[in-house]
This record gives sequence, structure tokens and C-alpha cells, in this order.
Amino acid sequence: MVRAHKPSAIGVGESTPQPILSVKDGIVEVTLPSGDSLTIHQYGATVTSWKSQGQEQIFLSQKALLDGSKPIRGGIPLVFPVFGPPPKDHATSALPQHGFARNSNWEFLGKSSAESTESRDKLAVKLDFGLSHTMLTEGFRKAWPYEFGLVYSVTLSEGTLSTSIQVRNEGQQNFEFQVLLHTYLKVEDISDVRVKGLDSKIYIDKTRNASSHTETSSALAIAEETDRVYKDLDPTVPIVVSSAKDDKPFFSITRESLTDVVVWNPWIEKAKGMADFGPDEAYKNMICVEAGSVSAWQTLEAGDSWEGGQSIKSRL
Ligand code: BG6
Repeated sequence: MVRAHKPSAIGVGESTPQPILSVKDGIVEVTLPSGDSLTIHQYGATVTSWKSQGQEQIFLSQKALLDGSKPIRGGIPLVFPVFGPPPKDHATSALPQHGFARNSNWEFLGKSSAESTESRDKLAVKLDFGLSHTMLTEGFRKAWPYEFGLVYSVTLSEGTLSTSIQVRNEGQQNFEFQVLLHTYLKVEDISDVRVKGLDSKIYIDKTRNASSHTETSSALAIAEETDRVYKDLDPTVPIVVSSAKDDKPFFSITRESLTDVVVWNPWIEKAKGMADFGPDEAYKNMICVEAGSVSAWQTLEAGDSWEGGQSIKSRL
């Protein structure tokens, strides 16, 4: 694809220690001088590991298939251009659940380094990935015949992972899309997890026939199958995943242009029902907090582009 979003020039001095990058067999890995690291599979441009302070932050199922035969169970799969099962009467109706971005091979466009936006002594490395309509399988291209370009940027700095996606309409026709960053966060024990920042927000409960409810908890506990789409959130207000024991934050997530957040945990029965989820008990070690734009459709006019993203801080 055309590298319209070519990574910007390196903005740090020659003597500054640089990130170490490796690209091999469709897997991109980068390690910062601080030791923080990332692994991204070009299949789906799926982040499969994020290590910070020597600890893994991202949940990856031990049974996840990493051979490109199925979307990766865990990490940060990308949902585009439809969230969930496509509606029958929509342009996405012939696509699989969650669209094609998580099961297409993306191009690695390159890395760039800069000072972190938060602190001048911190280094940030940005990895860019691209996917366009010409790179899709024939099946996907036929099922969704729009000329699009996606650039997915994954930026790592010490303690922070940011992922943002730019959607471009490169054709003559308008199209509608939904998008979501399906982030599987790793937790030690789901019973100690609380999700804050959702109080008084309206959500669609997918475990209760997509009925609408208002959140009454300021610290949501997960004690059963949970599959909720929280709507109309202020993206600048962080969603905080914290410990019930001492209120310490595990993660804090802010978003840009992504006003919905899905909270998902399959719990025991659903976990057992997923062939690529394992071990069965692993539902206790994950919570999906998924920043997206999924409760309505974004319309993108010919020639226009749209961008949204998230920034996750770990164990602050
Ligand atoms: C969540 C949805 O985002 O993804 C759930 O809200 C769905 O309904 C889950 O079960 C996992 O989807 P998949 O296609 O990866 O099994």
C-alpha cells in the first residue's frame, strides 16, 4: 500500500539508547532501554504481549492459535468494520463476527522513536501497520467491496501503551463502519478486580437480550458472565481497573474519539465452550475493557479519514 502515513523522523539524539526492534516470521518485537517490550503479530496487527516493569500486562490464551487460521484469542485484536455479528440488512452482513481486520495480514510500515509526550527523559517507540482493500482475501473484498486504508499505530513508552487507528475512505462511495480495540487485560484474580468510571452510564447488556440499563456501581465487580456495551462516555475520563483490596489501580485507560467501552468476561461456561480459550480457569486471569465506536455507525465520506485510539497506563 502507499505509505501515506510514513513514520515521522527520529527525534532523539544519536547517543540516546535506542529501542531494539526485530521483525521475523510475521512477528514484530520491540524492547525499550527501560526493558518494557511489545510483541505484535502481523496477522491481525494483534498485540500479543506488553511487558512493563518485568510483568506481562496482556492476557493471551494458552490455546490461542497463532498460525493465522483464526483470530488470536487474547492480546488486542482489532474489530473493524463491524462489531459482533453483522446485522442482516447492512453492507457488512456477509462478514464474519467482528469483521476482517483481526484475521487479515497487515503490512509492517516501520518504527519511529521520539521523546515520550509525558516526560522528556522517556523514550517512546511507535510501530505502524497498514491494511488496505487490495490486501484482503478475495472473499473479504467481495463481502465488503469498499476502498479503504487503515493505519494502526502502536506506541510504547515506559508504563504506557497507546494504540490508535486511522480509517481512510479511498473510494468514491461513502461507507459505514464500527471499530473497537478488543483489549484483553491480564489480571491475577478477577475477584479482586473493580472497574471504575462507568457509574450512571447507560449500557446494553448482551447477556440479557441486549436490554438497556443504567450502571449503579462506582466500582463494578465481575462475578458472572459479563458482556456490556457502555455508551456515550467522555473519552478523556479514564476507566480505571483497580484492586478491591487496597484500591490500587492496575490499569487506567483514556480514549480519543472512542465513546463506547465494552466490558467482557466469558466466565466459566462460555470459557469452556471456546476451543481456543485455555485453560478453562483462565477467565479468572483476564478482563476485556474494549474502547470502541460500536453503538452506532460512523459514516465516512469519500476521501475522508477518521482516527480514534486509547492509551493504557499500567500499575501506576
Ligand atoms: C466481545 C463481545 O467484544 O467479544 C462478546 O461483546 C464476544 O459478545 C466477545 O463474545 C468475543 O468474541 P469472539 O468473536 O472473539 O469470540
